[in-house]
This record gives sequence, structure tokens and C-alpha cells, in this order.
Amino acid sequence: MVNQTEEFLGIDKNSGFALRVLVLSIPSGLIFFLLCVFGLLSISMGLLSYICILFFNTVFLLPMSSEIQQIKKYIQSLASGTSEETLLKKMTEKETRDLTEAINSMHKFWVDKTEMLENRTLSDAAVLDTLPEPLLMVNKAGVVIGANRAVRTLFAADLSNQDIYQVIKDTAFHDVLQRVLSQESRQENLRLTLAELKNKPKFHVNITTLPWFAKGEVVAVVSFYDLHKMLQFEQMQQDFVANASHELRTPLSIIAGFVETLQTTAKDDVQVRDKFMHVIEEQTIYMTALIEDLLSLSKIEMTVDTPPQDKVNVNSIIREIKNALAIKLKENQLKMTTHLPRLSQIIADERQIKQVLQNLLDNAVKYANPHSEIVVETSKEAQIPPHRYYEVAHTPAIAIRVINQGIVIAPEEVARLTERFYRLQEHKNRNIKGTGLGLAIVAQIIRRHRGNMIVTSEEGLTTFTVYLPI
Ligand SMILES: Nc1ncnc2c1ncn2[C@@H]1O[C@H](COP(=O)(O)OP(=O)(O)OP(=O)(O)O)[C@@H](O)[C@H]1O
Ligand SMILES: [Mg+2]
Repeated sequence: MVNQTEEFLGIDKNSGFALRVLVLSIPSGLIFFLLCVFGLLSISMGLLSYICILFFNTVFLLPMSSEIQQIKKYIQSLASGTSEETLLKKMTEKETRDLTEAINSMHKFWVDKTEMLENRTLSDAAVLDTLPEPLLMVNKAGVVIGANRAVRTLFAADLSNQDIYQVIKDTAFHDVLQRVLSQESRQENLRLTLAELKNKPKFHVNITTLPWFAKGEVVAVVSFYDLHKMLQFEQMQQDFVANASHELRTPLSIIAGFVETLQTTAKDDVQVRDKFMHVIEEQTIYMTALIEDLLSLSKIEMTVDTPPQDKVNVNSIIREIKNALAIKLKENQLKMTTHLPRLSQIIADERQIKQVLQNLLDNAVKYANPHSEIVVETSKEAQIPPHRYYEVAHTPAIAIRVINQGIVIAPEEVARLTERFYRLQEHKNRNIKGTGLGLAIVAQIIRRHRGNMIVTSEEGLTTFTVYLPI
């Protein structure tokens, strides 16, 4: 009964509240007892007075005890992590009120701190996820305790809690990792081929220890740098230098041979001399074109990161070039038809756009079947089709289509037309002159403008469609 009352009053059974009330009432109980013994107070009055004292003590102690009980329960719930975010309600007694305020401000401090830590952990994970390079963390036992998104994509799995020695089975990697984990060295690098993955990608791997994490779990951070792009780039550069020197050496050796002949055997033969002079002139023109193309390619590469700024009217450039091509068109008995609806100006590099159109229209004239028609048309498009290697502008665009009749180009050859020095065998056989750099220049300029170029060849109709953002 007493216990139930205590619970009802918000006080724990085992709190010793009843005992405390009884102990406090002992001195007054003794006084009443002695008064009764000496006949100064009747027993019934003595009992009544003692009950009154018990009652007053209970009323006096109850609020404070009940409030302390509430504080105790609140702290227990905080400690066990079951507390809701709400703060402790304000108490009525002075002492418990002060205590409540102290507890509440402490609670608020820890809530803020926890929130800050949680946010930091989340943002650290998000930062790691934004890294394009795969990065993972392993503990001393070689267990993966964290990995960013690039790792998850690379291995197509969440490696958390997996044994790194089982995931990557390269012994050289194991040796290096163990050296770092056993603190023999702080940082190591190695070249690694992930033979367990489908394409067997090659990486430059860096393994580093984090000493300030020593008390935590992280012992080593393993970062992977994709070597594929770098190797591809190195190869491209080597090919380019080899191609360029080959292309320059060919006309030079032709010129040298003819000059030698002119100095010796053909010295006095006027007819042969004129013929040879003509060949030398042709080769010189070709070399000049080649050097000019190489120079403009390197100039464009230098501007590739600076956005263009001119206001350009594409239609009037097309008209200008068409007029300049009049003689060539007549020579090849070609007809050029244009469909140029009114279009707004675009922000572009005027000289470069002229070069794009010049190269495309030149090609159309050069590679079109004789007596055929070349069509040049422009239109407005809602968007630019995506490019495989770079991000195109996400804006409406102007499309320029140059269509000519000519040989059927196989899809694998279409894909290679913008490669430097790439020329179709058929055109080489027909002895049509060219450096094979025109479309490479076009592609670089379009890239700088964050546009795109789509080439199609169907039933002898070759179409080059250039998209330039408005
Ligand atoms: N309109 C086209 N029709 C058919 N084939 C084309 C067309 N345009 C280009 N090609 C092919 O693509 C190759 C590469 O073209 P590109 O313009 O880069 O070089 P080029 O015309 O040979 O030389 P350059 O333009 O430097 O004088 C050409 O040699 C040709 O084989
Ligand atoms: Mg060309």
C-alpha cells in the first residue's frame, strides 16, 4: 500500500523516501513519547501529534524528492540513449530548478556537439564520394573499413568489412601494404593491374598511413590513380610526333630527290626540269599546308579552356565561304544549295567558326562525286547530343548540316575521321591531296565551344552535323 502510494506520488519504491520521513520524525516522536510517559500529554493526543508531524514531514519532503526522482529518470534515459530530444521540464524547488538548468544546458551542449560530429562525418563521406579516384581505408588486420563511391563502382561491390588480401590478390600489393601496416614505411607507391576485374585496369596505387588516427581504426589509406588515360595520352602524343615527322619527311625526301636529279641527270633537259619544278612546288604547298595545320591545331589546343566571346552570325559566314568556293565548285561541276533560315547570333570564336565551316565545305567539294549537289543547311535545335569524352553545353543550339554525295564510308571509318592524319584509303588511292588534319582541327574547335559533331554516311550521302551552343 505504502509502495503504491509512493509510486503514485512519482517516487521510486526503493528510493528510501518513507524511511527518510520516519527518521526525520524520530526526535519529535521521542518528545511526544516522554510527554506521554510523564503524564503531560494524553496518549491519544501524543499519537495524533506524531501523525501530524509525519504528515508535515511528508508534505515538506515530497516535492523535492519527486523532482529529484524525475531528474534521475531523465539522466538514466540520457545515459541509456532512450531519451527524446526534449529538455527536462522546469522544476518548482529552487535547488532542483538550478540543477535542471545545469543539466539542460549540458544536454544541449552535447546534442549540438553530436549533431556537428554527425554532419562532419556525413560531409566527409560525401567529400570522399565526390573524389573521382577510388580510395579505401583498411585497418591493421587488412579489413576494409571504408570506401568511396569510386571504389564501389570499380569493384561493383561494397567492400566494407571484406579482407583486402582476398579482394586484391596481387602479391606485390600485399607486400607493400604489409610494410605500411607494420609501420616499416609511412608511404609506398606501386603499379598494379587488377587482374580480378573484367578489363584488367592498370593503376598507380598510393598507400599511406594516418598517424593521427592511430587510436581509431584507420591504419592505411589506399588510393588508385587510373593509368589508362595517361598511357593512352602518352601513346597519342608518340603517335602524333611519329605521324607528323613522317608526313613532313615524305615531301622533303621527294623534294631532295628531285633537286638532286635536277642538278645531275636532268640538268639540261628543260621539259623534265619544268615537270620536276611543278612536283617540287606541289610538295612545298603540301608542306606549308601541313605546317599551318599543325600550328593551328596547337593554337586551338591552347585556347581550349578559354570560353569564346564573339557574336557570330553563322549564316553569313556560310554565304561568304560559298562565294569564295565558286571557282572550285565550277571546276568540279558541283552545285551548292543552301537553306539558311534566320537564326540568332551565337557566342563563339569567329575565326575558329570560319575555320570549321571552311574545312567542312572544302571537304564536301573535295570528296563529292562530280556533277553532284552539296547541301548546306542550318536550324535551331533544343539541345546538343552528348559527346563520349566531354560535357557538351546544356543549352539550345544551332545545327549546321553539310551533305555531299560520295563514297560509302564504313561505320568504323566514320568513327576515325577526326583522328589526326587519318584519311580514307580510297581518297589516298585517288591521289586527292590533303593532310588529314582538317577534321581534327574542326573537332578541337567544336570541343572548345562545348558543342558536338555527328557524322553519318548512308547510301553514298555523307552528312556532317555540327552543333554549336547558342
Ligand atoms: N565530306 C566528306 N566525304 C567523304 N569523305 C570525307 C569527307 N570529309 C572528309 N573525308 C575523309 O576524311 C579524311 C580526313 O579529312 P580531313 O579534312 O581531316 O583531312 P583532309 O581533307 O585529308 O586534309 P586537309 O583538310 O587537312 O586538307 C579525308 O582524307 C577523307 O578521306
Ligand atoms: Mg579536309
